[in-house]
Amino acid sequence: MRVVRSSSALRLSLTLAAALAATAPAGAQTPARVSYAPAGWDDGAKLREAVDTNPDPNVVEVNLTAKLAEVEVAPGKKVTAWTYDGGLPGPLIRARVGNRVIVHFKNELDAPTTVHWHGVRLNIDMDGVPGISQPPVKKGESFVYDFVVPDASLYWYHPHVMSNAQVGFGLYGPLLVEDPDDGVNVADETTLVLSGIGFDSKGVLEDPESGGSAGMVFGREGSYVLVNGRTHPTIKARAGALQRWRIVNTAKSRFFYLDLDGQEFTLIGEDGGLQSKPSKSSIMLITPGERKDVLVRPTGKPGSSLTLRAMLYNRGYGSVEYRSVEDIMTVELSNEAPVTNQPMPTISRAITPPSAVGATPVPVVFTLPPQEAGHNEFRINGVPYWKAQPFKAKVGETQLWTVNNDSAFDHPLHMHGFFFMPVDEKGAPIQPMVWKDTINIPIKTTARFLVTFDNRPGTWMLHCHILDHAEGGLMGTVQVGDGPVMTHGHEPPKP
Ligand code: C2O
Ligand code: CU
Repeated sequence: MRVVRSSSALRLSLTLAAALAATAPAGAQTPARVSYAPAGWDDGAKLREAVDTNPDPNVVEVNLTAKLAEVEVAPGKKVTAWTYDGGLPGPLIRARVGNRVIVHFKNELDAPTTVHWHGVRLNIDMDGVPGISQPPVKKGESFVYDFVVPDASLYWYHPHVMSNAQVGFGLYGPLLVEDPDDGVNVADETTLVLSGIGFDSKGVLEDPESGGSAGMVFGREGSYVLVNGRTHPTIKARAGALQRWRIVNTAKSRFFYLDLDGQEFTLIGEDGGLQSKPSKSSIMLITPGERKDVLVRPTGKPGSSLTLRAMLYNRGYGSVEYRSVEDIMTVELSNEAPVTNQPMPTISRAITPPSAVGATPVPVVFTLPPQEAGHNEFRINGVPYWKAQPFKAKVGETQLWTVNNDSAFDHPLHMHGFFFMPVDEKGAPIQPMVWKDTINIPIKTTARFLVTFDNRPGTWMLHCHILDHAEGGLMGTVQVGDGPVMTHGHEPPKP
């Protein structure tokens, strides 16, 4: 290329480059995205994708229908599940950061439902909570969800009506908001939706009330562990080459404590996008509702394979007793020579955390009192959801939440609509910094986080994402701004 010296010529060539970049296909601005994985490497776990019917590059417009469908989760293991568009999980909706997403939702199920967009910082009228953001969508009815996706990350969608039942029956799907300029530069990328489903040998779905109050207290996990709707799929890799896995745990109760034959996970992001810098570990916990953005570099002899396992993790009585490690996915190494020259990308993100100075303290405690009148209930600050008053926040206010889990079970707490920043006892962000919308609070521990309620007033849910716990009382709301207080219309469980 000719070296341009005059400044006006330089400006011209820059303008030209910008114009070219603007019309170039996705990813073209990011240099050197070389694929190393064998052809069809993720076919064994491929997700269906929603079809974008809108020609505008800034708008993603899709149809989504909730309906019954027979799915085969393992050879010969069939169940009539509740699905989005006929399969498990629901289709991957793919958007670019800043896009407008329009979803024409139709309900063909016999039960009312809604769609909640877990983690997306949208306005309250699109949050999918019946009684708060919209009436439930009854059989035969439709609803148009229309919102902007302001932050790149992996999100997911699921109902907010009897969610312990409906998510458990199969209603969940991924929403991937991509940023082609995120600097990650790993071409071999896949999305993994972890879940579980319970059904018997006749293909009858497990009763969401099974095990009664004790079933609620533990959180029903279902007998089949699924990765992208299948039991134990296989993906391929070339030894030594990086892969980017975008993982979401959509199970209603099951935790995933992942181990890839002891190999290293490089965690680059979580719920609200990239971390301030990557962190490494050989085992990784993903609790219900959470997302992890990880780089893996499978290594081993060409032709051998690695196993991704869910290890035992103690989230309360019943999670490690008489349980065994589960093999959940195989990574098969191709016969090609290992890749030895693919550097780990340098990834960093400037994150300005909210300041703890002047933040309003919000003390919260979770309890599970001894059984009364034959049933158990989880409580937040002494009351189950059906007796709770909302927490309050002003628009623009920063709060410091101190959440003490004084019960014998872990609770992954999810707050709708806002990201928060985990901090230590002194209010300093935990490093590396990352935005969260779901945080696990282990047995008898305290989590602290800072949250700024920006100008999106409304009644926003918060709840444990072990959905049986949520239904069992571990839910609440934050009233942001001074609009009318809305209620989720949730009945206490029948005795
Ligand atoms: Cu995935 Cu109310 O949330
Ligand atoms: Cu819980």
